[in-house]
Amino acid sequence: MIRVLGIETSCDETAASVVTLEGDAAPKILSNIVLSQIEEHAAFGGVVPEIAARAHVEALDGIIEAALADSGAKLADIDAIAATAGPGLVGGLIVGLMTAKAIAAAAHKPLLAINHLEGHALTARLTDGLEFPYLLLLVSGGHTQIVAVRGVGDYQRWATTIDDALGEAFDKTAKMLGLPYPGGPNVEKAAASGDSTRFTFPRPMKGSAQPDFSFSGLKTAVRQAARAIAPLSDQDVADICASFQAAVADALGDRVSRALSRFRQEFPGKAEPALVVAGGVAANRTIKATLEALCAEAGFQFVAPPLKLCTDNAAMIAWAGIERLRAGIAQENATDFVPRSRWPLDSVSAPMIGSGRRGAKA
Ligand code: KG4
Ligand code: ZN
Repeated sequence: MIRVLGIETSCDETAASVVTLEGDAAPKILSNIVLSQIEEHAAFGGVVPEIAARAHVEALDGIIEAALADSGAKLADIDAIAATAGPGLVGGLIVGLMTAKAIAAAAHKPLLAINHLEGHALTARLTDGLEFPYLLLLVSGGHTQIVAVRGVGDYQRWATTIDDALGEAFDKTAKMLGLPYPGGPNVEKAAASGDSTRFTFPRPMKGSAQPDFSFSGLKTAVRQAARAIAPLSDQDVADICASFQAAVADALGDRVSRALSRFRQEFPGKAEPALVVAGGVAANRTIKATLEALCAEAGFQFVAPPLKLCTDNAAMIAWAGIERLRAGIAQENATDFVPRSRWPLDSVSAPMIGSGRRGAKA
């Protein structure tokens, strides 16, 4: 049996969780506490790093205590502490990793420094017991990537954004239209009563031989359309949101279907290949429906873990710790590990110029 305490503080959620794996049984999430800082940041229209770091300092001890209490386990019953060590906002990473180091030292437990993206990448094995290899689409406020997940610690990035992350494009569109933060859910809500055919926005990269994403041109097109018809009525806002969402779904679908074909080519023997989605944008119903349809057409299983585990949480960090321990590839003692604000999952693929984590989130 392995029981791991996970800690996540890379952006604006303070989270702790205890996950356990016993023999061949399915893993169990014994507790999963997530404290969102949305209210602290809402007045500023985005995550303010200094406020985030201070809020983590204030909340983390209590969140860890609550996660232990909820799990019914004592610190002595925990086999290892796993903390997000990057990528993310460095202030928050320092708070989480230092706290984890202190607990590990005081309780004589091994410490695992976890890459936040690995947490997202392995979640489908926690929730659905998915076998390697599979394809991951990560669409959050800070990342837009397609990753071939081949094994624990074995990831290959097939596509990334060359400018804005998709969640960031939603958030900026919302801001331009005067919708509140966070933008994604509000754009989706407004789009529900809009006409998606009123504006024809560009589908960036559609049909391109380069596999990557781009959203900044779309954002500019939205700004120009909004300026041209200002002042905006509620119906105008709804129509822009619906047209934006249609363009995004179309562009995303094109990129993903390219990756599904590549997966077929690279893993021809894989029966029932799967596409997993992670990240906050995966909550969007139009995007989800587009991906579902694509998967059905291409003979892929579509796996969308529950939203609570798709967005930032500590259960995925604890789980990544368990996977590393089980695979025997954990750094046995990460007490010297320095937090990394940038930490690509795939060290082989070259970083994109002008891209990467431009938003606050990982
Ligand atoms: O995964 P997440 O909670 O945090 C990280 O970025 O790590 O993702 C947050 C992002 C935000 O940009 C938010 O606007 C977007 O996900 N989002 C959505 C929806 N819900 C959240 N975007 C589009 N439609 C939604 N329903
Ligand atoms: Zn994340």
